[in-house]
Amino acid sequence: MIHKYIYGTPFETEAVVTDIAQTDGTPAYGAVDTQDGFSFTYIMDEDDIVYGLGEANRGINKRGYCYISDCADDPNHTEDKRSLYGAHNFIIIAGEKNFGLFFDYPSKLTFDIGYTRMDTLRVSCENADLALYVIDGDTPYDIVKQFRGMIGHSYIPPKFAFGFGQSRWGYKTKEDFEKVAQGYRENHIPLDMIYMDIDYMDSYKDFTVNDDFEDFPAFVREMKDQHIRLIPIIDAGVKIEDGYDVYEEGVKNRYFCQREDGSDFVAAVWPGDTHFPDVLNPEARKWFGDKYRFLTDQGIEGFWNDMNEPAIFYSAEGLEEAREMARKFAETGTSNWDGSEKATEAKEDIGVWQLGGKLESLANSQDDYRRFYHNVNGQMVRHDKVHNLFGFNMTRAAGEAFERIDPDRRFLMFSRSSYVGMHRYGGIWTGDNRSWWSHILLNLKMMPSLNMCGFLYTGADLGGFGSDTTRDLLLRFLALGVFTPLMRNHAALGTREQECYQFEHMEDFRHVIGVRYRLLPYLYSEYMKAALTDDMYFKPLAFVYPDDKMASRIEDQLMLGNEIMIAPVYEQNGKGRYVYLPEEMKFVKFLPDGSISEEVLGKGIHYVDIALNEVPLFIRSGRCIPVVDTAECVDEIDMDTLRLIGYEGAGYVLYDDDGVHKDYDMEKNCRTLK
Ligand code: GLC
Repeated sequence: MIHKYIYGTPFETEAVVTDIAQTDGTPAYGAVDTQDGFSFTYIMDEDDIVYGLGEANRGINKRGYCYISDCADDPNHTEDKRSLYGAHNFIIIAGEKNFGLFFDYPSKLTFDIGYTRMDTLRVSCENADLALYVIDGDTPYDIVKQFRGMIGHSYIPPKFAFGFGQSRWGYKTKEDFEKVAQGYRENHIPLDMIYMDIDYMDSYKDFTVNDDFEDFPAFVREMKDQHIRLIPIIDAGVKIEDGYDVYEEGVKNRYFCQREDGSDFVAAVWPGDTHFPDVLNPEARKWFGDKYRFLTDQGIEGFWNDMNEPAIFYSAEGLEEAREMARKFAETGTSNWDGSEKATEAKEDIGVWQLGGKLESLANSQDDYRRFYHNVNGQMVRHDKVHNLFGFNMTRAAGEAFERIDPDRRFLMFSRSSYVGMHRYGGIWTGDNRSWWSHILLNLKMMPSLNMCGFLYTGADLGGFGSDTTRDLLLRFLALGVFTPLMRNHAALGTREQECYQFEHMEDFRHVIGVRYRLLPYLYSEYMKAALTDDMYFKPLAFVYPDDKMASRIEDQLMLGNEIMIAPVYEQNGKGRYVYLPEEMKFVKFLPDGSISEEVLGKGIHYVDIALNEVPLFIRSGRCIPVVDTAECVDEIDMDTLRLIGYEGAGYVLYDDDGVHKDYDMEKNCRTLK
């Protein structure tokens, strides 16, 4: 049962797609206060678990910290961070009472989940203009399904996007990409995609390719002949440059975000000064979306949208303030750190820390987010009021354009920034993680929470984006990535080379990625079932074993689909790990010689050995899953090699389709394997 409460005049975010009648009165749970902004307060039972928040920091159980929905370009995902790239304002309180809350509010929203007081949940925001949905259900899982039903079906990528992809910030020339293709193909490490980061463009201009790619369509074809798709990045900022058509058209048609005085707002990002396309303006959104044609016309079938929080390195206004402060600093007599000592009576003293702080605060500054406006159906709306909708609508621009470009085909699309609703148009990757062991676990924990909010096509930068990876970290990261719908190795400029062929004994990488392809029919089938029935692909154990107290506290194992549980190793030098089985299961290992070991383990705690080059999974009692022979790309998977592993006599309902078109008929595309 869903109740919708309206406070003030909410902005229409389009997160929800079903018509839900407004309920008068007050929610059955908690207390709402609209005196000074908005707040919802609820006293939690000691054993209540709080789920949700999608792409957020910390645990699957969100209790004990404070999270702020405020889409942020922050490459340091340390434990203290409160905001990441997405705003997914859905939580579930699970315990004696079970209910879900969706706060449909496009600006900054704070979830204090037992941070100020351990027993108190307080959700608050500055303006009491929002829709609050309260969802009653018997279990948290049931509440998720109701929520998913009201926000519309999740995005479905083409099947090739379930293959493995290689990415790196720094590939620039045709040769760079050819080298990667060769590195994988010659070493027979499977590969389906190579991602093109910002350097494929001409001076970081969206919808251009640099001169090195003389005949780009021929190059796209050449790669595709090797079953490799090139997936270019598109950034939010459009370079200011005379003669650049995207810039000129945007200025002429007033399609960029403007300052209060009507001038186009200038933000510095990779290309230097840029304008932001006003993707909240339907006309501008259509115009920007149609630009993707420049690349689809040349054979491109997928994209990743970036810097769409939107990220701002600095603005002209911010820079001027910093310069002014630097001038004062230069004139000051003292080198005192905090500026507390006056140099002379007449002059304001600027300390080293103040100046440093000012320079640091130039990026993604809240002041800048108040400096520009969106034209929403003729109304000028200040950006900070709708900040969390930018990434959503940039990706929606592309998604709506793909419908016009080729309504029958699927395109690969995922974004960095997002809001609930964007899950209908694309997936997300979890942004600039690090080559840290703790990030395997952080990324694992994000997966079920993202699924609760509709984001099914997700994954992390395997191996870690920032910092230097190590061979063992990459292998363990990949052994998690085998199971995430988006499986991509990506690394930052200046870090150690992290393509799988850069390391000794590359047969181990061939094997681990090969397991992805052996499992692909199963993973694809479970993805499609989840997407088509508004279900979860990854679930916390508690959703499947609601009466098992121990299962409900497990944060380092996940249920995947309806048949398996995963438990990756996430500690360096670990030769295995402890795992909790809520019921008897078959412990399956894909061994480097291509064989599969199966061992029945009883309910309870076990220590299982898992070598660096092995991929483990657990099949639930009485179930089975299909496996095939490995392949070097999705196109070459041979379904004739399919067989079942797991419990004797069990059956499996396999969903399969051509992976290209949108013929998603469940009945037609499902068959029972025995
Ligand atoms: C951002 C993205 C990262 C990309 C880089 C350069 O940091 O998150 O994935 O490599 O920009 O485009």
